[in-house]
Amino acid sequence: MHLAVTASPVYPIILAHLKTATISGDDQDAGPFLLDLGCCMGQTMRAVIHDGVPTSRVYGLDVNDEFIEVGYDLFQDRDRIASQFVIGDILSPSASTDFALSKVRNRMDYIWAGSVIHLFDYEGQVRLSKRIVEILLRGKKGNVIFGRQVGHINPGEMAHNAVVSATMYRHDERTWRELWDKVGHETGTKWKVEVWMKPIESKDWKSASWAIGAEGARELGFVMTLE
Ligand SMILES: C[S@@+](CC[C@H](N)C(=O)[O-])C[C@H]1O[C@@H](n2cnc3c(N)ncnc32)[C@H](O)[C@@H]1O
Repeated sequence: MHLAVTASPVYPIILAHLKTATISGDDQDAGPFLLDLGCCMGQTMRAVIHDGVPTSRVYGLDVNDEFIEVGYDLFQDRDRIASQFVIGDILSPSASTDFALSKVRNRMDYIWAGSVIHLFDYEGQVRLSKRIVEILLRGKKGNVIFGRQVGHINPGEMAHNAVVSATMYRHDERTWRELWDKVGHETGTKWKVEVWMKPIESKDWKSASWAIGAEGARELGFVMTLE
């Protein structure tokens, strides 16, 4: 299994904090907490827990509960981890979403966003990124959003029949910084943005439909830190 989270340059620092932060008194709610956004089967969450982070500090959020069920079957750990999953649509501002998200609402210190922001067109990415900032993060200096997704040497909207918005906006480093300038401006936050592109190495990604013939496709990695 390809676990991109462990390759992120910021992972050792985040891991150390999640593992060693002491809880003041009996306050289990104090965190720090990491959210695996668009967690799918929850493989990233489980990798972080396997690396020594207490299960109670790691959450997964996905709109599709079928993926989460497949994860329980695959890892045979429903009894140990089920309380850490949240099923909900991060983009939907409804009462039921509000209820579903209450476990993670404005409590997260670290958000892993693996192959999720890129699922949307530019406007969708702005909306999603603003929701991450406004709904999920604690909003403290040093909060981090990190991840990786598909980028492109010629950024822009690219048609894709498997996504809701019909196009996925693929970024290069410049447009990613611009996106986060906009998100920062519209949410009243300021972000240190680290972003890089590298050749796609994942075999899964190379065989994916969107990669075929896409010579300009790259892996886009990012770390945004709240200032
Ligand atoms: C391509 S998968 C990425 C899975 C995993 N994070 C990874 O890096 O391999 C995208 C995931 O995001 C979830 N997702 C898409 N839109 C979402 C939304 N609005 N709210 C919550 N999850 C969403 C999908 O159900 C899917 O599991």
